[in-house]
Amino acid sequence: MKDRRVLFCVTGSIAAYRVCDVISELRKREVQVRAMMTRHALEFITPLTLSSLTGHKVYRELFDEPEEGLVHTSLADFADLIVVMPATANFIARLACGFADDLPSSVILASRAKVLLVPAMNDQMYQNPMTQKNLKTLRETGFEFEGPIEGHLACGRRGVGHIASQESILRKILTLIGNA
Ligand SMILES: Cc1cc2nc3c(=O)[nH]c(=O)nc-3n(C[C@H](O)[C@H](O)[C@H](O)COP(=O)(O)O)c2cc1C
Repeated sequence: MKDRRVLFCVTGSIAAYRVCDVISELRKREVQVRAMMTRHALEFITPLTLSSLTGHKVYRELFDEPEEGLVHTSLADFADLIVVMPATANFIARLACGFADDLPSSVILASRAKVLLVPAMNDQMYQNPMTQKNLKTLRETGFEFEGPIEGHLACGRRGVGHIASQESILRKILTLIGNA
């Protein structure tokens, strides 16, 4: 798996910490991993955690100094697979509209890589017709999905919106990069 390259995009969900174990499992398999974060993701997990796990700088801003080239196009070209984990309702909506107003959305728009979305949100956010419409648009556009599943939610209720299990996310990533 040494030649496989996965770019994670972490967004502002309570489930953000779950990305750490998935990155660790990929690193054990010698997959090359990079990470970028939305500004709201910084409220849930630190760039230091992700840079320690990936061994690389974590990109956050469109106008960051890149190691080489332009930051958004370098990251876009790096990836065999982009994994948005967790994917918030907001980020899903912005992807469905083709926004490029921050680093992660610009990278995804500029990339030819497959994109795997791992949604995590409150059940009512998930069931909202706008979210469902956005998910349908992305599915029809060719985005891959893992989850969400039914489970205990951060708001205290049980419902669909819980992030998929670590095992199923890892399996899906390995399948997608195996075919890359
Ligand atoms: C404690 C807390 C937990 C949140 N968890 C989620 C979540 O799991 N899923 C989600 O879609 N939004 C969640 N939000 C709302 C997002 O952080 C908010 O919509 C934000 O604008 C997302 O920004 P981003 O998509 O650019 O990261 C949460 C907000 C707070 C304050």
